[in-house]
Amino acid sequence: MTEIAITRTAHPRQPPADETLQFGRVFTDHMFMMEYDAGKGWHDPRVVPYQPFTLDPATCVLHYGQAIFDGLKAFRGKDGQVRLFRVKDHAARVNKSGHYLCIPPIDEAMIVDSIRTLVEVDQNWVPSTPGTSLYIRPTVIATETFLGVHPSSSYLYYVITGPVGAYYKEGMNPVRILASDRYVRAVQGGLGAAKTAGNYAASLYGAEEAQNQGYTQVLWLDGVHHRYLDEVGTMNIMLRIDDEVLTPPLNGAILAGITRDSALTLLRDWGLKVSERPIAIDEVLDAAKAGRLEMWGTGTAAVISPVGELGYKGERYVINGGKTGELTQKLYDTIVGIQYGTAPDPHGWATLLSNRPHG
Ligand code: COI
Repeated sequence: MTEIAITRTAHPRQPPADETLQFGRVFTDHMFMMEYDAGKGWHDPRVVPYQPFTLDPATCVLHYGQAIFDGLKAFRGKDGQVRLFRVKDHAARVNKSGHYLCIPPIDEAMIVDSIRTLVEVDQNWVPSTPGTSLYIRPTVIATETFLGVHPSSSYLYYVITGPVGAYYKEGMNPVRILASDRYVRAVQGGLGAAKTAGNYAASLYGAEEAQNQGYTQVLWLDGVHHRYLDEVGTMNIMLRIDDEVLTPPLNGAILAGITRDSALTLLRDWGLKVSERPIAIDEVLDAAKAGRLEMWGTGTAAVISPVGELGYKGERYVINGGKTGELTQKLYDTIVGIQYGTAPDPHGWATLLSNRPHG
């Protein structure tokens, strides 16, 4: 594998205090960059000081959105060690997303190495207070300069990172979500399973309306019947009705969340009945009314996020008395325990970083 060149900043900054951290506002001293050109492949992998880059106004990504990204986290445990969570799975998902957008694949070992090297260089930025982490954002953009619609012949892969706190202002308190009967995030056969910029652009209008009504996020329903649960956009959705755990299947319209997979794996390890199947909104509302429902979201940024209220067609349904359910709490504690190195990691999800100096 090509060696990653490292150029350190001449002006290292002081990371912010952990208690001031929000989500996605602060970035570390360095970033990773690597270009692709047709006929040459991916080349020049390097860690460089964090910097803006210039793009020609005709650059393809600015017009047609040929862009993908991923999101993963590094955690500093009580032992001081830094762990990446499911980095290989995130690397594989970069290429899965890229496939939908006609972006040439990147050697997955190189993706892992880009992340590992960057985080090792900026390891003093990994916060240590429980609930904080270093968020890592690998991104690929199409960089050819042209105004015709076809896949670009050149790309930039880059990785930026930054220390973060909770994604939702509610933290681990239950969020309120609005099931939308008007707007659609994605449909089967579209790009819903790719982590691509356009899916997030498609979610903004509906999300703003939901926020104006006092909700944190939208629960997207399927684009054909407006009836079956898809996902929340910032997280996958999961629920328990009586003793069965349910989540929508990976049908091409929703993201194959890695926290979704972690939660399903743990629930199955615990011997629970877990079904990945279409879930109609009326089934959820009936269970909410009967007090038989617990609901939570799963996502890298959101972790495990309890849902305390569901809105639909002008009605508000309180879930589990508006409180965090037992299973939600157990999932949160177990996943967070693995991430910070305080719980056993039977599936080998955490990758310990070396604290050797680079460069
Ligand atoms: C993540 O969970 O990592 C995401 O990319 C979601 C994004 C809305 C922050």
